[in-house]
Amino acid sequence: MRLDKFLCESTELTRSESKRLLKAGSVTVEGIIVKNPACKVSDDSEILLDGAPLNRVGFRYIMLNKPVDTLCSTLSGTEAERYPSVIELLDVIKSDRLRIAGRLDADTTGLVLITDDGQWSHRITSPVKKCSKRYRVELAMPLDHSAIEPFAEGIQLHGEKKPTRPAQLEFISDQEVLLTIHEGKYHQVKRMFAALGNRVTALHREQIGAITLDPELEAGEWRYLTEEEINSI
Ligand code: URA
Repeated sequence: MRLDKFLCESTELTRSESKRLLKAGSVTVEGIIVKNPACKVSDDSEILLDGAPLNRVGFRYIMLNKPVDTLCSTLSGTEAERYPSVIELLDVIKSDRLRIAGRLDADTTGLVLITDDGQWSHRITSPVKKCSKRYRVELAMPLDHSAIEPFAEGIQLHGEKKPTRPAQLEFISDQEVLLTIHEGKYHQVKRMFAALGNRVTALHREQIGAITLDPELEAGEWRYLTEEEINSI
C-alpha cells in the first residue's frame, strides 16, 4: 500500500494533509524519514508519525451498554435532534464507518454490537441466520405462566403476514420475564406483549447469540469484543 494511503487509513488525516506531513518530514518508516507519498509499505512496517506508532484501522468489533435516550441510528431526523447516537459514545477514529448490528429503541437499554465488518453484521441481522437475542422485560401487568405457550407457538403481530418465530419465555416474577427471540421485527418485543394485551415498561437486551453483555460495563460504557466473542457469531 502507498504510504499516503496508509496514513489516511490509520488516522483521520486527508490525503492532502498526509502529503503535507510527509513533506515536512514527520513520518518515519523503519526508523528512516520518508517524504515520498508513493513509497510502498505493508501492515508489518514500523511507521511513526511525529514519533507515535500508527496501525491501520482494520475491522472493529465493539460491545456497548446502551443507556436510555440514545439512538441506534446515524441518520438525522426528529428523534436524532432530541437524542444522541450511540456512536457518539465511542471515542474511536473513523466512527463514520461503524454500523449497528441490530438496533434498539431509544428507550431500550443494554447490549448493542457495533462493527465495520458488514458480513459479520449480516450474520446477526439477517432473518435467515436466526441469531438469538435475549431481553429482560418488565411489564405493566402481571403475566400468567400460560403465556409461555403462545410465545413458543408464534404470535400474530398487527400488520404482519406471518406469526413470529417460536420464542422462549422464562419467568423471573409475574411482571418480569426473559424473552429470547430469533428475528428482529420492528418493535418486536413490545408488539408481542401488546398482542397479548400487556405493555412493556422497561426493556433491556442481555445477549445476542453467545455474546452476553459484560456486567463490568456501566450504561454508556463499551469495550472491544474478544476473539472468542467475534468468532462465536
Ligand atoms: N423489541 C422492541 O420492541 N424494542 C427494542 O428496542 C428491541 C426489541
